[in-house]
Amino acid sequence: MPNSPILQPVTIGALNLKNRIVMAPLTRSRSDNDGVPPDFAADYYGQRASAGLIIAEATNISPQAVGYAYTPGIWSDAQVESWSRIVRTVHANDGLIFLQLWHTGRISHPDLQPGGKPPVSASAIKPEGTAFTREGMKPHVTPRALETDEIPGIVADYRRAAENAKRAGFDGVEIHSANNYLLEQFVRDSTNRRTDRYGGSIENRLRFPLEVVQAVTDVWGGGERVGIRISPATTQPGETPLDSDPNATYGAYIDALNGFGLLYVHAIEGVTQQTRDAPEGVDLAALRHRFKGAYIGNNGLTLDLAEKELAAGRADLFSFGRPYLANPDLVERFATGAPVAEAPKAYWYGGGANGYSDWPGINGPVPVRRREPV
Ligand SMILES: Cc1cc2nc3c(=O)[nH]c(=O)nc-3n(C[C@H](O)[C@H](O)[C@H](O)COP(=O)(O)O)c2cc1C
Repeated sequence: MPNSPILQPVTIGALNLKNRIVMAPLTRSRSDNDGVPPDFAADYYGQRASAGLIIAEATNISPQAVGYAYTPGIWSDAQVESWSRIVRTVHANDGLIFLQLWHTGRISHPDLQPGGKPPVSASAIKPEGTAFTREGMKPHVTPRALETDEIPGIVADYRRAAENAKRAGFDGVEIHSANNYLLEQFVRDSTNRRTDRYGGSIENRLRFPLEVVQAVTDVWGGGERVGIRISPATTQPGETPLDSDPNATYGAYIDALNGFGLLYVHAIEGVTQQTRDAPEGVDLAALRHRFKGAYIGNNGLTLDLAEKELAAGRADLFSFGRPYLANPDLVERFATGAPVAEAPKAYWYGGGANGYSDWPGINGPVPVRRREPV
């Protein structure tokens, strides 16, 4: 609806947003074998620049971080160059864009790893499910537990990725600490059985993620342009609870994150893409109120639901994932009450421009201004 408070401008920290709508990070697996996003990704993101903030798809910080075929990276110059073209296009269309920094840890496969080696994790615990490789889906394998002295190297990879994101011109970065990728594999006690200073107590399990937050905020000159994504209630990739005491673990995490002055925490509420209900015993509301910065709610939201959440003071911004696949003009559709289109799953991951940057808006093609480097 045109007067929806969700569609009014808002200032969050140093960012002036056109509205409270955030495009959630969406892996689309259209990069080349060197992790370079295609040129038509600039159209895709440019078409969606009417969102208050775009969070670009999860992007690998290093070759070891890769866990899905055709996902982009941010470690090489060619990747930075392609991302900077995307960022320029979003800016030319008056949008703001953050990059999501990703290390998949055990949610990978030797086929995707340098030298065909097993993926790494906090501990050698095999995830349920399958990995998306260039040869199709393959069962996950048992990962190798990282040695204590390898961890500073991964923190350095995050630092370089944060520097490269800055070089590419992004407005900020989001640290991906959700959906059971590497950082969450350290946070949760079901996937972290370490006996060194990175395992055991909550303080120890949070040590590596917080070292990453420190490195990234150092690069960005503080937390003003850094957010973090968490999923305290998700059970993915399996069906079982992933921490023995999520309220204590994530409460301590949020308390520690408060010390970095982060712009926002972006929470997946409930089980990712499945339900907004948290498993019994996970108190998402308490966690939300513990965080001092802005809060982005996500998971199964509609405009109506977002309005209710805002009115109840439960969230500041609202991110939409699946609705952004086939609706480049989602904001316009919300403003006019136009129907929201659904993207068939065949288009979600892999392929070219078809089903990706060729979705029309409600009034025909969504024009994109392209700006060449000066
Ligand atoms: C195709 C697809 C790709 C996704 N890729 C990412 C990703 O790269 N990073 C991430 O944090 N979440 C990712 N997600 C999760 C979404 O950001 C979001 O949390 C989820 O879809 C629930 O929100 P929704 O109900 O608005 O879709 C992905 C979801 C989908 C459907």
